[in-house]
Amino acid sequence: MRSHEAGALHGQSGDRGPAWLRAPEDANELVPHLWASNVSKVDGVLTIAGESVTDLAPEFGTPTYFVDEDDFRRRARGFKEAFPAADVYYAGKAFLCVAAARWIADEGLNLDVCTGGELAVAIRAEFPPARIGLHGNNKSVDELRRALELGVGRIIIDSVEEIDRLSKLTAELGVTAPVMVRVTAGVEAHTHEYISTSHEDQKFGFSIAGGDALDAVRRILAEPGLKLLGLHSHIGSQIFVTDGFEVAARRVLRLHAEIDKELGVALPEFDLGGGFGIAYTTQDDPSTAQDLADGILKIVESECSALGVAIPHLSIEPGRAISGPSTFTLYEVGTTKSVALDGGASRRYVSVDGGMSDNIRPALYSADYSCTLASRDSDAPAVLSRVVGKHCESGDIVVKDEFLPGDVRVGDLLAVPGTGAYCRSLASNYNHVPRAAVVAVRDGEARVIVRRETEDDLLDLDLG
Ligand code: LLP
Repeated sequence: MRSHEAGALHGQSGDRGPAWLRAPEDANELVPHLWASNVSKVDGVLTIAGESVTDLAPEFGTPTYFVDEDDFRRRARGFKEAFPAADVYYAGKAFLCVAAARWIADEGLNLDVCTGGELAVAIRAEFPPARIGLHGNNKSVDELRRALELGVGRIIIDSVEEIDRLSKLTAELGVTAPVMVRVTAGVEAHTHEYISTSHEDQKFGFSIAGGDALDAVRRILAEPGLKLLGLHSHIGSQIFVTDGFEVAARRVLRLHAEIDKELGVALPEFDLGGGFGIAYTTQDDPSTAQDLADGILKIVESECSALGVAIPHLSIEPGRAISGPSTFTLYEVGTTKSVALDGGASRRYVSVDGGMSDNIRPALYSADYSCTLASRDSDAPAVLSRVVGKHCESGDIVVKDEFLPGDVRVGDLLAVPGTGAYCRSLASNYNHVPRAAVVAVRDGEARVIVRRETEDDLLDLDLG
């Protein structure tokens, strides 16, 4: 009988894994660029900012997201330094809590929030409202009112209804709303469809090609309560090449020039959004913030000079590239099994104590991750392994393909790098699993910045 009756679509046969995955010479060694800067192995044990995971796991439990606070701050600073003349808005959707908002404020960045909930975190962190930008394709009247009352620095308009809502609210509150217009540049970003946001057939922004963007600009300029700062374009996420940004920047700047020439309004600003890719596995080769800056600034300068317009004040909104690499998730192994594949090969399944509730990205976007045996060295030959969670779904995969020592066993700790963006923020309580804690480590000090949920927290929501 065939070992995999569903056929090759479901099973990737062989024990070599996907083409990009190379069997490591030594499976104990870290691939440095996948890990935060203060993470290393000492005698086979993973350490972060001087704390070993074999000490951290008993103290904080597993699964836990461990953040290298200095690494997070350094990446935030890196964007500020690479784009000295621009405003850098950290995209809070990637990961936000009071501590992270304070780090961002300390490092001199601004903050992009996209819901009332994210705004509430920012306010609890005493983030200066003037340095906050509010996004969202369906902001409620209540969210807009709160933003105006707080005096947020800008609201990025995404629909005609929002123009109406804002003009009513500004009249009611007697304030002026600083706004930008989110436009769709019609760019096919080479990333997963669900995180690509500037092609025409999706929900965000006003189309440039269809004329909606110019119409929105006209309407906003006619509203006395709205002060139009400029155009905003975000093409998608986890992008590696600057050509998408280049095409988008060109199209948006043409519209910018058209507004200048036809409506006689020189808009002072231009926001290029975020989307800068990071390395999750050895197949990813991201640019540095400086390389991105050089590429993007060159494009903007040459385009503005060709169009005969002044260079607008730029802003960018990196999320993943700041928080993503700073964090790893630590899990404990609970079960292992080998599953026979076609052609006599087998795959080792290693189940850990978390899964799709703490990282939905493999299931949602087929995202690849890597991992390492974190609690000890091993001499056992590496075997192709699949790290899976504890949820009741076969798609509950944490790391689809990785070479791990063949003797990985119950009680071992595994660490998955690059989980600082869109993992805690997309976490769920699926199967009534409480959400994991976030622990920041700096200079040998570990502190819980988001506590672990408990079963009582979940039961408290259930009113019977
Ligand atoms: N600005 C805007 C307007 C955005 O919509 C986003 C992301 C960003 C900035 C930040 O993008 P980043 O630099 O983090 O790529 N859940 C998905 C990503 C969704 C991104 C949504 N918008 C994922 O896990 O890959």
